[in-house]
Order: sequence, then structure tokens, then C-alpha cells
Amino acid sequence: MKSSGKVRKLVPSERLEATSQLAGEIAHELNTPLGGILMYSHLLLDDMAKSDPHMENIIKINKLAHRCKMIVEGLLSFAHQETPLLKEVQVNQILHDVLGFMEDHVLLRNIAIHVDFEPALPRIKGQENKLEQVFINLMVNAAQSVDGNGSLTLRTRFNAETNLVSIEIADTGCGIDKKHLDKIFEPFFTTKEKRKGTGLGLSICHGIIEQHKGTFSVESSKGNGSVFTIFLPTSPEDTDQQPTTQIKK
Ligand SMILES: Nc1ncnc2c1ncn2[C@@H]1O[C@H](COP(=O)(O)OP(=O)(O)OP(=O)(O)O)[C@@H](O)[C@H]1O
Ligand SMILES: [Mg+2]
Repeated sequence: MKSSGKVRKLVPSERLEATSQLAGEIAHELNTPLGGILMYSHLLLDDMAKSDPHMENIIKINKLAHRCKMIVEGLLSFAHQETPLLKEVQVNQILHDVLGFMEDHVLLRNIAIHVDFEPALPRIKGQENKLEQVFINLMVNAAQSVDGNGSLTLRTRFNAETNLVSIEIADTGCGIDKKHLDKIFEPFFTTKEKRKGTGLGLSICHGIIEQHKGTFSVESSKGNGSVFTIFLPTSPEDTDQQPTTQIKK
């Protein structure tokens, strides 16, 4: 990757910060009225006779409001307005668990997955379910780009000089056009068909990694695959501890 002439993109940018702030403010404003729509549609449904001709429409309103709620939650994650509960976690273990529940995913069929984990990876301070969400999003993107024909590589490393753990998710898929690289972390940016992507995946990942005081780097060019790397800090006392090399099966 290093000498392939691929574009190396480091985020966040100032533009992304401004987008994040705007997205967060809008999401925050929408959250309360949406909660009201959900509550009142539930109350209507509770009071309604099963034979009521309006029932079907209220169910639709309720489902669509749920969908909006998920989008708003995604935007709030992106804008990092939640305070994460950070505990000591082992990234190799989280990746191993994610692989476990992703292995039957239809997207990963016929795709080779190479795993290259640093055995002595120190723990980091993180929120397990949030990091899982990041790795799942990145793996789904990678699998979609490979489209059943290629491979994914998951790599972890520890750099003792910078005190950073890195997690690399690489694919041999379609790659990213140079003109899109600046935009991929913005909410709602997608190159996928309507029902295949909302364009929120990477913006949510970005928010979560920021909450973990980490950074993202992306190397990609059209037709040559992509490498998404996350760098997460380990505090000095964490690195002094015995690194966990075991993976619970
Ligand atoms: N591994 C990858 N290979 C090629 N393109 C990618 C990759 N990851 C992201 N992209 C590009 O970045 C865009 C934004 O990704 P993001 O995950 O935010 O949204 P999405 O995948 O389009 O939709 P969603 O994740 O909401 O279902 C994608 O539409 C795609 O163009
Ligand atoms: Mg995605």
C-alpha cells in the first residue's frame, strides 16, 4: 500500500467538524418531537380495536418514526454527543467476536478473510459494543466493495513509540474515487443504490472513534481496494500491564 501511489487521507478535517456540529444540532432538535410521534402513535395503537380501518396507517407512521429515530441516533453518534462508558477492552477479542457473528452473513460468502493479529496487543479504554459497531460497519463496507470476489484482511498492531494500537481493515474491492475521499465520512454521503446504503455508516464510525480519542486513516484509489486504519491510544499504565494474548473462543 505504501508505495502504490494510492491516495492517503487523514481525517477529521475542519469541514467534517463543521458538518458534525450541524448534524448534531439538527438531530438534537429532532429527537424530542420524534419521541412524541412515537409515543402518541403507540398510545393510539394501544387504544385501537384490531378491526379499526386506521390501524394499518398508524402502524406505518410508527415504523417510519422508528426509522427516523435510528437515523437521528446515528447522527447523534456521529456528532459524539453521548458520553461513552469506557472500560479496559482487548481489541483482538472484539474483532474475534465480530468475526464470529459475521461469518454467516450473506455478504461474506465466498470472500476470504485473512486475520493478522498482534499477539501482544495492549488493552485500550473503550466501549465494546460501540467498537463492535465500528468494525461491523467497516467489514460490511469492505464486503460490499469486494462484492463476492476478493478478500478482506484484518490486522492489529501496537506501536510502542506512539503508544497507539492500530486496527486495519483492508479489502481488494472497488476502491474509492479520489473525488469522493473527502466526503465519505460525511453523513448521508453514499455511492450505493437507494436501498443499499444510507451513507451514515462511516459518519457513525467517525463519531465513535473520536469518542475514543482515536483517529482514522484511509488509503484507497479507484479499482485498487481500500485500507481503513483506526489508531486508538493506550494510556501508559495500560501498556505497563500484561498484554492479553488469549482469545476467548
Ligand atoms: N471499503 C470500501 N470500499 C469502497 N468504497 C467504500 C468503502 N467504504 C466506504 N466506501 C464509500 O464510502 C461511502 C460512504 O460509506 P458509509 O458506510 O458511510 O455509507 P454506505 O455504506 O453508503 O451506507 P450505510 O453504511 O449507511 O449503509 C460508500 O457509499 C462508498 O462509496
Ligand atoms: Mg456503510
